[in-house]
Amino acid sequence: MKKLALILSLLASCSVWAQGNVEAGKAKSQTCVACHGADGNSLLTNYPKLAGQHAKYLEKQLKELKLAMETGGKQGRNEPVMGAMAMPLSEEDMADLAAYYASLPISSNSTPENVVEAGKVLYTAGDAERGLTACIACHGPRGNGTELSGFPKISGQHADYIKLQLEKFRDGSRANDMNEMMRDVAKKLTDEDIDTLSKYVGGLH
Ligand code: HEC
Ligand code: HEC
Repeated sequence: MKKLALILSLLASCSVWAQGNVEAGKAKSQTCVACHGADGNSLLTNYPKLAGQHAKYLEKQLKELKLAMETGGKQGRNEPVMGAMAMPLSEEDMADLAAYYASLPISSNSTPENVVEAGKVLYTAGDAERGLTACIACHGPRGNGTELSGFPKISGQHADYIKLQLEKFRDGSRANDMNEMMRDVAKKLTDEDIDTLSKYVGGLH
C-alpha cells in the first residue's frame, strides 16, 4: 500500500502541467496559421509542424520562447521570430494552444530510400566509438517521444526544421534542453549525420 501511494504521488508530481482547453486553443490560433498552417501542419519546411506534438512539450516551448525574450536570451529558447509571437501569450493561452495543436493529426511524410540504411543505424544504435547515444533511447522506436518525460515527437516532422534544430543544439544556440540532454548528443553529430537523420525521421511512424 505504501509503495502504491508513493507511485501515485510520483505520477501526480510528473503531471503538474495545466491541461488546456482544445476549443479555446482553436479560437486563439488565428495568429499562428500564417506560419504553422491552418491545421497545424506548416507548408514552409523550416517552420515546425505542431499538429500531433505532445501538449506538455509544446507548452514548455512557448514558455521558454517567451522567457528568452524577457531575459535577453539568457534563459529559455532564444528565437526572436517565434519569441515575438509568444510574448503576448498568458500561461492559460499557452496551455490552450498546446492542447489544441496536440489534438490535431500530423500530415504524412516519408523517408527517402537513400538514407534508410545509414539513418537506421544512427537512430537505433548510435555509435559507441564516438559515445553517441542512440536517438531511440529517448525518442522511441517510432520517433513518437513520450508526453510525461518531455521527449518530443520527431517522426513526420519536416527534414529542414529537424536539421535546423540539430544544428542549433550542436552550436548551443538552442539551449533549453534539460541537463543538456540534446546538446550532448548533437555535439557528436557530423554534418552528414545531421543530413541523414533529419531525412530519416520523416517516415518513421
Ligand atoms: C512569423 C511566423 C510564425 C508565427 C506567426 C508563429 N510561429 Fe511558431 N514558430 C515559428 C518558427 C520560425 C519556429 C521555429 C523556431 C526555431 O527555429 O527554433 C516556431 C516554433 C514554434 C514552436 C516550437 C515547436 C517545436 O517543435 O519545438 C511552437 C510550440 C510554436 N511555434 C507555436 C506557435 C503558436 C502557438 C503560434 C500562434 C500564437 C505561433 N507559433 C506563431 C514561426 C512562427
Ligand atoms: C537523452 C535523451 C535524448 C536523446 C538520446 C536524443 N534526444 Fe532529441 N531531444 C531530447 C529532449 C529532452 C528534447 C527536447 C528539449 C526541450 O525540452 O526543448 C529533444 C529534442 C529534439 C529535437 C527538437 C524537436 C523539435 O520539435 O524542436 C530533435 C530534432 C531531436 N531531439 C532529434 C534527436 C535525434 C536525431 C537524436 C539522435 C541522434 C536525439 N534527438 C537523441 C532528448 C534526447
